[in-house]
Amino acid sequence: MRINTPVTDREVELSVDTMIVSKTDTKGRITYINRDFIDISGFTEAELMGQPHNIVRHPDMPPEAFDDLWKCLKAGRPWIGMVKNRCKNGDYYCA
Ligand SMILES: Cc1cc2nc3c(=O)[nH]c(=O)nc-3n(C[C@H](O)[C@H](O)[C@H](O)COP(=O)(O)O)c2cc1C
Repeated sequence: MRINTPVTDREVELSVDTMIVSKTDTKGRITYINRDFIDISGFTEAELMGQPHNIVRHPDMPPEAFDDLWKCLKAGRPWIGMVKNRCKNGDYYCA
């Protein structure tokens, strides 16, 4: 399990028109992120592209959530759930 630090207690509030989108390959490496993803996460596009998606993993997220995500995706089913992600500066957002 990857532990990204530091973390702050500050939440980045997402406005109603925010749409965070990312795509990965079958190993979970980022192949696409949209403008909102870049702006909210605080990473640059170059820092994100090709990196494992756990680059935004927040330590508060239980490993079981991702076990379930991968089980669903590997079985060809979609996964829907709330994820708390860490921004580059340690803040967090929920999407
Ligand atoms: C399409 C896709 C999107 C993902 N989105 C996230 C995400 O937003 N945040 C996150 O922490 N992990 C996300 N993951 C899961 C990561 O690949 C990884 O399993 C998770 O961060 C736990 O990593 P760790 O076990 O190395 O800590 C995503 C995976 C896929 C395939």
